[in-house]
Amino acid sequence: MKTFNTPAPNIPYYTPVQDPPAGSALSPNPPPLFTPLTIRGVTFHNRIAVSPMCMYSSEDGFFTDWHLVHLGQFALRGVGLVIIEATAVRPEGRISPHDAGIWDDNHIAPLKRIVDYVHSQGIKIAIQIAHAGRKATTNVPHVIECDPTLPYVVPREYGGWPDDVVGPSAIPWDSNHAKPRELTIPEIQNIQKAFVDAANRAKTAGFDVLELHYAHGYLGHEFLSPISNKRTDEYGGSFENRTRFNVEIAGKVREVWPEDKPLFVRISATDWVENEESWTVDDSVKLVRKFKEIGVDLVDVSSGGNTPAQKIVVGPGYQVAFAEKIRKETNSLTGSVGLIREPKFANDIIASGKADLVLLGRQFLADSGWVFRAAEELGVIVKWPRQYHRCYNVKKPRPDDDTNETAK
Ligand SMILES: Cc1cc2nc3c(=O)[nH]c(=O)nc-3n(C[C@H](O)[C@H](O)[C@H](O)COP(=O)(O)O)c2cc1C
Repeated sequence: MKTFNTPAPNIPYYTPVQDPPAGSALSPNPPPLFTPLTIRGVTFHNRIAVSPMCMYSSEDGFFTDWHLVHLGQFALRGVGLVIIEATAVRPEGRISPHDAGIWDDNHIAPLKRIVDYVHSQGIKIAIQIAHAGRKATTNVPHVIECDPTLPYVVPREYGGWPDDVVGPSAIPWDSNHAKPRELTIPEIQNIQKAFVDAANRAKTAGFDVLELHYAHGYLGHEFLSPISNKRTDEYGGSFENRTRFNVEIAGKVREVWPEDKPLFVRISATDWVENEESWTVDDSVKLVRKFKEIGVDLVDVSSGGNTPAQKIVVGPGYQVAFAEKIRKETNSLTGSVGLIREPKFANDIIASGKADLVLLGRQFLADSGWVFRAAEELGVIVKWPRQYHRCYNVKKPRPDDDTNETAK
């Protein structure tokens, strides 16, 4: 059928094209937050990303229509990049039995459905692939919050695997967590292969960006930090050895991940521990230099999560200085995350060259329309989804505003 309402290209159903995507600056000389960023063959139309956030809403790792609507809301409302939550490369690499997963080819179809929807809005989408290591088999936070008397470690009869938790060393995170078993070298190689297999599945599902989760005390971070890694073989001891697990995975994943698509890595820049040998910001700088050599395109800079001894100093933009230091000392692109809530603040981070991308987590859960609010506060006119054109710039009605008219 001929139509004046052009369809979005390469989507398996009819939906009007969003060209340019919602959240694109229409005013000349937009503020830096609303300028595009191109990495390899992928252009983000603004510098605002939804930070990966576990929703603990899966069974056997499967994404569902719940995730489609949850993630779709951000695409509809103009973010530059949606990053899907930590998605386990192996069943025992889930934080809880309800984590999302990508260890099976059957996981691809529901992921592709989400990718197609986000693409139908002209928006880019990433998936964060992960292994929880010694922080696995814990109860779902929104369940524990409602009933703190429930067990923290999930037993077998509730789908847990407390007898099959793994880590670089047999050291539990704390006395509330399961005791991990030290991984053997063949087991390490199997997990590395699981990351590569997951990358291939993400490629098949059509993701634009892949992010490796090496932060927050999960397996990648556990190998990096001398607090959790006491191995005496080639995967422990020296900086070179402690970084080997992660560097090898990044190298292998880069080989299968398409040349024209970006690879991101999320790290914890520091353990936030002073009186013990730990992972530091200077270590992160050295590691990011290695990542850069093997083709990692952007470092998403978070912090902490590897030990109850951490003393985190939390406040607005509390991790920005780490992203800035890494960016300056390695010449790598960085993303900054952590209590970035105000549009002016987010814009200043980009404008002052502290980071190339800002990631917002909780703020997007509270306000999925943050991009439009930010545009308004920063005085830039942005595109809205075509179907929503009648509410465009609600607070500053256009001369032809018809909002008082009855529905046409
Ligand atoms: C509900 C929830 C789930 C999260 N899950 C993940 C995750 O899957 N992967 C990850 O790297 N960080 C995760 N985080 C951390 C966020 O991505 C983000 O780094 C953190 O919340 C700080 O940013 P914010 O202050 O903008 O929320 C999660 C945070 C929240 C609140």
